[in-house]
Order: sequence, then structure tokens, then C-alpha cells
Amino acid sequence: MPMDIFKITGPVRLDGEIIVGGSKNAALPIMAATLLAGGKTTLHSVPNLSDIGVMGKLLEDMGCKVETNGGTTTVDATTISKPVGDYEIVRKMRASICILGPLLARCGKVEVSMPGGCAIGYRPVDIHLRGLQELGAKIELKNGYISATANGGLKGANIFLGGAFGSSVLATANVLCAATLAKGKTIIEYAACEPEITDLAHCLVAMGAKITGIGSPQLVIHGVKELKPVEHTVIPDRIEAGTFMAAAAITNGNVKIKNCRLDHLMAAVDKFRSMNVAVEETTDGCVVSSNGNLQPTDITTLPYPGFPTDLQAQFMAVLCLAKGNSIITEKIFPDRFMHVAEMSRMAANLRKEGPHVIVSGVDKLISAPVMASDLRASAALVVAALAAHGETIINRVYHIDRGYEKIEEKLNALGAKIERESV
Ligand code: EPZ
Repeated sequence: MPMDIFKITGPVRLDGEIIVGGSKNAALPIMAATLLAGGKTTLHSVPNLSDIGVMGKLLEDMGCKVETNGGTTTVDATTISKPVGDYEIVRKMRASICILGPLLARCGKVEVSMPGGCAIGYRPVDIHLRGLQELGAKIELKNGYISATANGGLKGANIFLGGAFGSSVLATANVLCAATLAKGKTIIEYAACEPEITDLAHCLVAMGAKITGIGSPQLVIHGVKELKPVEHTVIPDRIEAGTFMAAAAITNGNVKIKNCRLDHLMAAVDKFRSMNVAVEETTDGCVVSSNGNLQPTDITTLPYPGFPTDLQAQFMAVLCLAKGNSIITEKIFPDRFMHVAEMSRMAANLRKEGPHVIVSGVDKLISAPVMASDLRASAALVVAALAAHGETIINRVYHIDRGYEKIEEKLNALGAKIERESV
């Protein structure tokens, strides 16, 4: 893993136009869903990210042919010679778990390494396993692997997929994919409603699946005999868009964000407006501008359409410079506060109280050497560094490359001063 660092000089004011890429969190479960069809599926607007590369490697390891050409990725899943998600690959990316449902439905058996934890906390898979068991899968955990079989195929069922923290995005993806080829009717209650799940469902319907209730907490699936390969364009990445909006807000900038679906970001837009950040909708996105008079607000992360946990850290960076106190409550991943200590090194005034962080606005942030930890915490440090006085050094930039394509090129085009160095 190359240990690149970012050197970011601030404060800057961002001005100009930026284009959002395809959604990482839609592309990953959709790439896994290509396993359901024996043939070559073509996906457009797939971002060029290390996580996407890991998913491609996982599919190739199973016997698929994966080709990437610019933003287009093709997956030929005609032959699946090894329905196994190998530890050496899965440990790099927790989202690998979403091959479980498609492989079980297509091959009747699958082995996937238990995904490791990650910086945002413990990542259990009990909801995934419970849902697949209710479809008739036999599941065993041994030597760190999940081994699932479905002799005689899967059978439709009424499944409640809620957990202690509400709905589960990738558990919904796994059970939804498995149900498309199960015998009979499946009802998924408390399905995740994230736009990435809606995009997955649209892709599955194009492949021949019978799904209703798309976008709602209740999905109804009538199993079919087989699915066919398709051509699908992945939705824009709402979290990348939200991250750029935060960068515009913290730098008192004026940024036109293109290829951005504001209807996927209404909770974030609502909070930006309460912080006195102007967000004007345009035909293909929005213009975000701030006049330096940022107001405090309170944020609680919730399943969609609530405020997205993947934007919590980026908003914390902006709220560090608001004129007053804000409270951020993390209800999805209560430990998702790796960025708090790092932002405090930049003179932010933060106090963690369990799943809450009190953000007391300060006049300015000051540059410091900081450490990236998880993907979104690292992006939040970039946002903070744009406004911090001096040169901020961000270590372990590979965390950022997992979810943001050429972030320094995109932001430098708006006036940022970010240098990437290999150390
Ligand atoms: C998806 O992860 C996203 N990843 C995450 O984005 C995102 O933070 C998360 O959804 C919540 O929106 C991808 O889509 C690839 P969950 P996922 O299952 O599906 C608990 C990023 O930065 N839970 O919706 O793994 C879980 O611990 C990443 O791009 C169980 O208890 O998240 C959490 O508290 C980070 N048991 C809550 O549910 C389970 O079996 C929501 O998790 C599964 C989850």
C-alpha cells in the first residue's frame, strides 16, 4: 500500500465547477449482482476507486472476466468456477460481503470470509445471515468463513430485516438479490431505502427480476427462474457530492456541482441551509455558496432519508467554524468519531460525550500533521485543511483513494492547494 500524503495549504476560497462521479456504494452491490446472470453485464459511470478494484478482483477470483475501460466496467459471469470470497481479498473491503446473496442464489453454495472490522467500529453481519436463513439457506461459521448452502434452491419468505440500528443497506442488498431467484414470493420488511438500494433494484428489474415497492421500506419480490445480463448506468455519488458541498461551505466558496441528484441529499441540503449555506438547485445539480457567516445546527445520523452517517464527519469540519455550538449525534455507527481527535489537533473545539459530539465554533482552524483513518473521516480532514491556516499534512491518503477519484485534482481545479507526495 503506497503511503502517499497530502500537503494542503489554506485558507483558500473554492470557486468554479466540479463534476461528481458515479456512486461507489451503488456500484459495489450492483457489481456483485452481476453474478446472478450468466453472461456479460456492462456498467457505466463506475468510479475508478480502489474499492471498485477490490470488487473486480473478487469477481475475477471466482472465475468471472472483468474489464474496465474508463468509467465502463463489464463483468462476464458466465462461469463461476469458485464461489468463494477469499480472506486475502475480503479483508481489504468489508463491502465484499454483498457477494453472499448473489452467489447463494446463482450457485446454491458460497463461502465468504467474515469481513474484518474497520475504523468506524464493529461491523456485524447477523442481519445478512438471518435474512438468508429465512430464505432457506443453511449457514455455518467456521475458520473465519461464512459457509452457506441452499440445496434445492431458496424459497421465498416474509422477512423482517430491522436491527438494533434500524435498516441495513448491504443486508438489504444481499437478501434482495437472493430473493430474485428464490421460489415464490418474498416480502422484505424494514428494507433500506438508500438511493443505492433503489439503483440496485432498478438494475435487477432490468435483468428480469420482479420487484415492487422499490424505494420503500417494504420490498416485494416474485422469484424468477433466471436473470439476464444488462447494460446499466450507476447513479451519481451523493456522498462525494455532499463532500464537495462541505468544501464549498467551509471555504466561503461559490461552487457549481454537476451530475448531482439533490433529491438524494435532501437531509444534507436541509442542514446546509440551516447553517446559512446557500444551496440553489440547477438542472443537473446545484450551486453551493457561503458568506462566512456559518450558523450552528444539530445533526443526528439516521437511515435514509434521514441524515447520512457518511456525511457526519464532513459536516463536523464545517461546524467547527460556525458561530455557536452544535451537537452531532451518531446513531448508525456510535464509534464513528476517529476524526474528532485529528480535528482537535487543528484547534477545533470538540467534546465527545458517548454517541454525541459537542462542536463549539472557533474563529479559525490551524494546520497540523493529521492521520487519516476511515474513508469519510479522511475526507473530512481534507475539508478542514482547506480552511485551516498553514500547511496541513494528511498521512495515509490511501483511505481517501478508496472512495474519492482524484479528489486533489478536482479540488485544485476550484482553487485548492493540495499536493500529493509519495513517502
Ligand atoms: C453501507 O454499509 C455503506 N457501505 C456505508 O458506507 C454506510 O455508512 C452504511 O451503509 C450506512 O449507511 C456501502 O454501501 C458499501 P449497514 P453497510 O448494514 O451496509 C448495523 C462508506 O463510507 N448492522 O447499513 O455495511 C451496523 O453495524 C461506507 O462508503 C448490524 O447490526 O451498513 C450499523 O450500525 C462506510 N448487523 C447499522 O446496522 C448487520 O448484519 C447500519 O449498517 C448489518 C449491519
